[in-house]
Amino acid sequence: EGNTLIIMLESNWTRQLTVQMMQNPQILAALQERLDGLVGSPSGYMESLPKVVKRRVNALKNLQVKCAHIEAKFYEEVHELERKYAALYQPLFDKRSDIVKAAYEPTEEECEWKADEEEELTVSKQKAKVEEEKKDEEKEDPKGVPEFWLTVFKNVDLLSDMVQEHDEPILKQLQDVKVKFSDPGQPMSFSLEFNFEPNEFFTNTLLTKTYKMRSEPDENDPFSFDGPEIMGCTGCTIDWTKGKNITLKTIKKKQKHKGRGTVRTVTKTVPNDSFFNFFTPPDVPESGDMDEDTEAVLAADFEIGHFIRERIVPRAVLYFTGEAIEDDDDDVSTHHSLCVMASSLS
Ligand SMILES: *[C@@H]1O[C@H](CO)[C@@H](O)[C@H](O)[C@H]1NC(C)=O
Ligand SMILES: *[C@@H]1O[C@H](CO)[C@@H](O)[C@H](O)[C@H]1NC(C)=O
Repeated sequence: EGNTLIIMLESNWTRQLTVQMMQNPQILAALQERLDGLVGSPSGYMESLPKVVKRRVNALKNLQVKCAHIEAKFYEEVHELERKYAALYQPLFDKRSDIVKAAYEPTEEECEWKADEEEELTVSKQKAKVEEEKKDEEKEDPKGVPEFWLTVFKNVDLLSDMVQEHDEPILKQLQDVKVKFSDPGQPMSFSLEFNFEPNEFFTNTLLTKTYKMRSEPDENDPFSFDGPEIMGCTGCTIDWTKGKNITLKTIKKKQKHKGRGTVRTVTKTVPNDSFFNFFTPPDVPESGDMDEDTEAVLAADFEIGHFIRERIVPRAVLYFTGEAIEDDDDDVSTHHSLCVMASSLS
């Protein structure tokens, strides 16, 4: 009803009022006030209620706050359940890693996959298959599933945007990505663990990224609570071997001496784009105040961390083959308000 009224008001009055309004802001303000009253803006409506009713509505809001705290308990139990099931998945993920890095050769039976049998072999396909096998024999024997994680990363838009060409030789040596949940009784968090084969680029074989979660409603804004949220993250130090730090690049700059006017060339090291910048995220300041750039970087980072945990680690093979690549970025609910990424349980 409110909407109909506004449309009527506009069509009948606007034309006559426009000129006056332009000249007289008070009229505009008065009209705006009337319109606000008509739509029943929340504040206006609450103000119009008798005091006794307003008091009772406050009581209802207090009940709502209590609901938010019970909901927080619900999510704590969900976290526990996730931990419990993580332990059940882990042996399978370990076997996945063993196959990928050639620590384990799956048996004939383990390699059987229904769709392979069902595929009807036409004569031409049969010929192609024989040729393929011949080629395979000629190639040197590949170990495990080469470039498994690099392929996964390149198949996911969110990650492929981060992976630079100079990152690829390093990511080829990535052997496993794991999710570790915080222990019971500890503040809620999860860590992503990246296991690398010993390599020429850095001396670490394990790189980690930890995401702190807030699982309690914010006292100042309890109604915004919608499950645990990522609040911040910490990376790790990468022990780059000399000359291999790809997160740095050197640039040459011409510098003019102020007094003498001579020009000399100086080399400067500046940050370079790299996937490995993922391990040095900006800090979330205590105050919560941050510039827009930092906010954007963190929002993207939280989204990526959440995506790796929720999608990539559980179903890596399907990202490798491409089967999981739908528009499933949409499923991961994200709200970027104040750089906080909802880690909704999807
Ligand atoms: C810096 O990035 C560029 C391209 O983004 C790359 O070609 C170059 O190798 C990188 N520098 C170093 C030192 O890795
Ligand atoms: C590598 O580069 C980063 C900046 O991107 C820097 O913070 C770090 O200290 C460097 N590490 C080494 C070992 O050079």
